[in-house]
Amino acid sequence: MVKYKASYSPVLDGRIIDLMWVYLNGDILKSEEARISPLDRSFTFGDGVYEVIPSYDNNLFLFEKHLARLYSSLEKTFIKAPSDLIDLKKILSELHIKNKHKNQFFYVQISRGIQEFRSHESSSDVTPSLFITSQKLKKNPYRNNPNKAGLKIRLEEDVRWQRCDIKTTALIGNILSMHDPSLAKVDEIFLHKNGMINEGSRSNIFFVKDNKVFTPPLSQKILPGITRDFVIDLLRRYKIEISEEEIPLDFIYDTDEIWVTSSTKEIQPVSQIDDYVMPVKKTGKVIWKQLLEAYHHI
Ligand code: PDD
Repeated sequence: MVKYKASYSPVLDGRIIDLMWVYLNGDILKSEEARISPLDRSFTFGDGVYEVIPSYDNNLFLFEKHLARLYSSLEKTFIKAPSDLIDLKKILSELHIKNKHKNQFFYVQISRGIQEFRSHESSSDVTPSLFITSQKLKKNPYRNNPNKAGLKIRLEEDVRWQRCDIKTTALIGNILSMHDPSLAKVDEIFLHKNGMINEGSRSNIFFVKDNKVFTPPLSQKILPGITRDFVIDLLRRYKIEISEEEIPLDFIYDTDEIWVTSSTKEIQPVSQIDDYVMPVKKTGKVIWKQLLEAYHHI
């Protein structure tokens, strides 16, 4: 007989860890107390959406944009907005205080809801669930040390579904190869299809050639990154040329800078893609460093 386990041991790598405070459908509680039915469609179908929102010193960064993308994900998946979503800002602030870390990032997870009898189609009366976690946001190491070696990247065929513009919790296409024991660990994976690089498995991509910046255009092939958008605004403010266009694979070997952006990584440079080591730029300014400095002042 399977025994119900009331709580799990808060041990990670042999150390007792401080459990985080989470939010679940109206309550703020310790993660070990959070309970949700296994009949939740996010568990049975991966039927949910999510958002990742950073907060510096309890100031949410680009909150309105994250909220707008979350509503857009709900609209595109026909998932109802949970009634407590209206209080999101307040909930995140309370979680920030409870979890104490100076800088944090929140995962705001919404599932279509719990359904008693399995059916691919959900009944119209399912109530969506809202679950939020908060973790310590580590300082981007390139802020203190911009000369630190860049990220190591693996190139991979993009096998994900064709609606990557939706921030869905069904991320197996993004994470599959990270669990292949035959593959070496890398910092990020660049996903390509039909000779074009779409994005990272968890970031957007930027390439620089002769002081002009390139990033793939918004489409159903990529997530409309909030950081991507913010960085494009910064580039325009600095009058640096930016072109939103498809990036062919061989551009890797003819480019001055490559960097990734995301809410948790901010901006981070790349130094190696598969076996190719990027040459270090010796003259002229390095655009990603200039942008990261602008991040400091926010
Ligand atoms: N990932 N593309 C993908 C596939 C992503 O998962 C992410 C973010 C981004 C960058 O989006 P943004 O700038 O809005 O964070 C692009 C987050 C951090 C995650 O899922 O953990």
